Amino acid sequence: MTSYKICLLPGDGIGPEIIAEGVKVLDAVGSKHGVTFEYTEAAIGGCAIDEYGTALPESTLEAAKAADAVLLAAVGGPKWDTTDSEKPRPEQGLLGIRKGLELYTNLRPVQIFQALSSASTLRPEVIDGVDLMMVRELTGGVYFGLRERFYDEPGAGVDGAPGQRAYDTMEYREYEIDRIARQAFEAARKRRNKVTSVDKANVLESSRLWREVIHAIHDADYPDVELEDILVDNCAMQLITRPADFDVMVTENMFGDILSDEAAQITGSLGMLASASLGDGTALYEPSHGSAPDIAGRGIANPLAQILSVEMMLRYSFNMQEAANDVRASVTSVLDAGWRTGDIADAATPKDKIVGTVAMGDLVVESL
Ligand code: IPM
Ligand code: MG
Repeated sequence: MTSYKICLLPGDGIGPEIIAEGVKVLDAVGSKHGVTFEYTEAAIGGCAIDEYGTALPESTLEAAKAADAVLLAAVGGPKWDTTDSEKPRPEQGLLGIRKGLELYTNLRPVQIFQALSSASTLRPEVIDGVDLMMVRELTGGVYFGLRERFYDEPGAGVDGAPGQRAYDTMEYREYEIDRIARQAFEAARKRRNKVTSVDKANVLESSRLWREVIHAIHDADYPDVELEDILVDNCAMQLITRPADFDVMVTENMFGDILSDEAAQITGSLGMLASASLGDGTALYEPSHGSAPDIAGRGIANPLAQILSVEMMLRYSFNMQEAANDVRASVTSVLDAGWRTGDIADAATPKDKIVGTVAMGDLVVESL
């Protein structure tokens, strides 16, 4: 029997609650499709800071590398919020593991579940047919460039006081753009064959390099794929005026961070959006939402983005397409039957159809 090792990283806040539902779904998929999943668990984020003094202990990175895939829930919380750069932050765990596993491609699919179309703040005719894939570069750009904070020359501050200065650097190397471009064009060939590349080439040098490399790869190896360039500010606007026109969107790390939250909200809830982070080795799967500390421990968090991350894991790490389709179909049927967690319930949802985290996971498993 085929067996896969999965490293679980529950993290903080609602993390442990939602990852348990992901595991439940994996186990159900395993028994249905004749595969066993073995789990190891490791600490990341705030809970790792509390236990080890660092958001990404060496042992966690090792456990992740040794696994066939990593399932992460969420990190962060007010307890560890600080602007003091000397202090550890939970997000360093996430950034560290992305860099440590060289997960340079982040896929964030945005699709409308018909049953939830009224949850969007956009008009139904605007979101009709939305099906896009955000391809975000994940290990470069301003997230990983040189940064510093220091005291400037005397008198630079307010009223002649010593002033501070800080900078972050957005840097891209040609090979980093080359490899993410190829991922985007490959993804497009399996979809509607269109790539929209998002940059700020009218201002930023790194964007001018981005645009040149994207076009060079396109002309040399993917001339069959339709390619358009769009400036990031214009993109933010187009994304909510004509979201259904986009197929694959490819962009640098920070633009992708911002635009993927915006794109997620087209569907009405960030609680539904999964993501896959891929490199050349072990891949990582996580919901796009955060650790929701305000509702942690109350059993009401929406586990569906976590469960849909499991779907992506089956697809991309284990090539279990049929199983992945099953998970998606189960989520769809549970939603079609009217079941909702609080975040996706609307005024029309009867109270007795609102369920908690565990019940939602059970419903998906039952449907499987
Ligand atoms: C995301 C998150 C992270 C990011 C944070 C938590 C560091 O917002 O995955 O989109 O900025 O990449
Ligand atoms: Mg983000």
